Amino acid sequence: MHFISDQLEDYIENHSENEPELLQRLSRETHQKILQPRMLSGHYQGRVLSMISKLVNPKYILEIGTYTGYSALCMAEGLQKNGELHTIDSNEELVDFQRRYFDESFFGNLIHQHLGNALDIIPQLKTNFDLVFIDADKENYSNYFHLIIDKLNPGGLILSDNVLWSGKVLESLKKDDIATKAIVAYNKLLKDDDRIETILLPIRDGLTISRKK
Ligand SMILES: C[S@@+](CC[C@H](N)C(=O)[O-])C[C@H]1O[C@@H](n2cnc3c(N)ncnc32)[C@H](O)[C@@H]1O
Repeated sequence: MHFISDQLEDYIENHSENEPELLQRLSRETHQKILQPRMLSGHYQGRVLSMISKLVNPKYILEIGTYTGYSALCMAEGLQKNGELHTIDSNEELVDFQRRYFDESFFGNLIHQHLGNALDIIPQLKTNFDLVFIDADKENYSNYFHLIIDKLNPGGLILSDNVLWSGKVLESLKKDDIATKAIVAYNKLLKDDDRIETILLPIRDGLTISRKK
């Protein structure tokens, strides 16, 4: 869902940083060959992720939900020189696609792919993180939060995507709509948890920034 007009969206994109050439190619190939290309962050949100990462200048980044690697490459732009970006996805078919683009970028050797269910993989990660991007199955957003909050360094950020869920967060809940129910509960969890401060931004489908105190 677009919360603002196409015209304004174009204006916003045209007055923000250009999309790097490698990411233009990745986006094009995703749209040509991969199912559900709408999942990719895209030009504007990608530049937002890149800017946030550059401001944080993290040593360790965790991404939950790699898809074709677009957002991982955006966040990698802000990594420290000896930093690491760990990105998790359960879809085996995407691994080679992701690796090809990671290796074409400046950050290939800093990006570590993890294949499997994020619920199993996160507890095995030994590092603490400065920046976390949650962008996988909505039903598990709250579970991901509980798994990562103790692995987040003070001052570290959690970014959560799709928190407005096409505006469905305002509608009366349908019994079988598990995803909307989960997002509504997650937004409340972030607002109520005293360990973090949270700001929900109306960027694309809703992007929350939560900072650990
Ligand atoms: C919205 S896409 C991620 C988009 C990507 N972050 C971007 O902006 O370009 C969500 C991804 O989460 C993955 N996913 C869904 N459930 C998962 C789980 N339980 N563990 C790991 N990955 C999961 C899917 O395979 C899919 O590739």
